[in-house]
Amino acid sequence: MTNPMTNLIRVGVAGLGNYVPEKRLTNADLEAMVETSDEWIVQRTGIRERRIAAPSQVTSSMGLLAAQMALEDAKMAPIEIDLVLCATVTGDQPFPATACRIAKDLGVTNAGGFDVASACSGFVMAAQVATSFIRSGHSRNVLVIGAETLSRILDYTDRNTCVLFGDGAGAAIFTSLERANRGEFLGGSMGMEGGTEDVISMPGGGSRHPASLGSIDQRLHFMKMGGTKVYRFAVRVFADLVQGVVEKYGRDDIGVIIPHQVNQRIIEAAMAQLDLPMDLVFSNIDHYGNTSAASVPIALREAYDQGRLKKGKLVVMPAFGAGLAWGHLLLRW
Ligand SMILES: CC(C)(COP(=O)(O)OP(=O)(O)OC[C@H]1O[C@@H](n2cnc3c(N)ncnc32)[C@H](O)[C@@H]1OP(=O)(O)O)[C@@H](O)C(=O)NCCC(=O)NCCS
Repeated sequence: MTNPMTNLIRVGVAGLGNYVPEKRLTNADLEAMVETSDEWIVQRTGIRERRIAAPSQVTSSMGLLAAQMALEDAKMAPIEIDLVLCATVTGDQPFPATACRIAKDLGVTNAGGFDVASACSGFVMAAQVATSFIRSGHSRNVLVIGAETLSRILDYTDRNTCVLFGDGAGAAIFTSLERANRGEFLGGSMGMEGGTEDVISMPGGGSRHPASLGSIDQRLHFMKMGGTKVYRFAVRVFADLVQGVVEKYGRDDIGVIIPHQVNQRIIEAAMAQLDLPMDLVFSNIDHYGNTSAASVPIALREAYDQGRLKKGKLVVMPAFGAGLAWGHLLLRW
């Protein structure tokens, strides 16, 4: 089935999956680790607990479980997947790509694949690569995973960052609309502004600050963040991305907004700026925190399970974070 206007193949969502680890790290647990309080965290972020990977778990093992659920949902065999993309900034190792490991463990033997390192916007970026490959006829069935083990790069002596993030994985399989029969991909966007490493980054481990005793002493292998700058950026970009959809389709067409689960206060500030009601938003930030590239696909599957994806209505997924980079994904369910 091609779009008669563009002659491109129409794309839909075949399957969705997610996985979060068992272990819960509550605000009370964090009170015992750093100078913070449940009240401060809830008031500033809306987060009450987050999930933390077991010592034996890595990003690929969580991504694998999410991918298996998505394949089951799609009623597809691993052999049918011809492209595997993994959005992550906490891959199993700096290289090879975590996508390769997941493909191997999943039994995907007939595909190419690579990682997309765009932090919190990684999943919406990777999903747009997936849809472009299908639209052009290059790929047929693309598995997109967003998976993070952020607990391994968090400094649990730094209260500015350690209270905000958690671990987990989500996955989506894109295919032709004809086969998927739901979740038509209508479009998306991408933007970036480089030179912003002071806003949010992990400085160590790359060519700028390779691992050394000095880099370890300076704690460069942990995430660093300038919270206020991120806050302002996130509210502005979230509002701009959703406003673009409202202007094109009208607000009544929007069934649900599933933003990057950044922080409840940012979500509320952006929705107030847009003059849109909070009940349009799907949020699970209170129990998972911010899981970076995993946040949108984890929430997408939960929204699906809870009947929040309404037939014929728009699903808007704005995401933003380190880069700075931002983008959105738009589906009609
Ligand atoms: C981090 C954030 C919650 C801080 O909220 P805020 O309203 O800016 O905080 P305030 O400016 O009122 O307070 C900052 C103070 O709180 C302190 N603080 C930071 N984290 C704290 C914590 N977990 N518990 C208690 N106090 C904390 C700071 O040390 C600072 O203290 P100081 O003024 O003595 O130096 C907010 O900036 C934010 O949400 N930023 C976005 C972060 C994010 O989502 N990043 C991921 C993007 S993908």
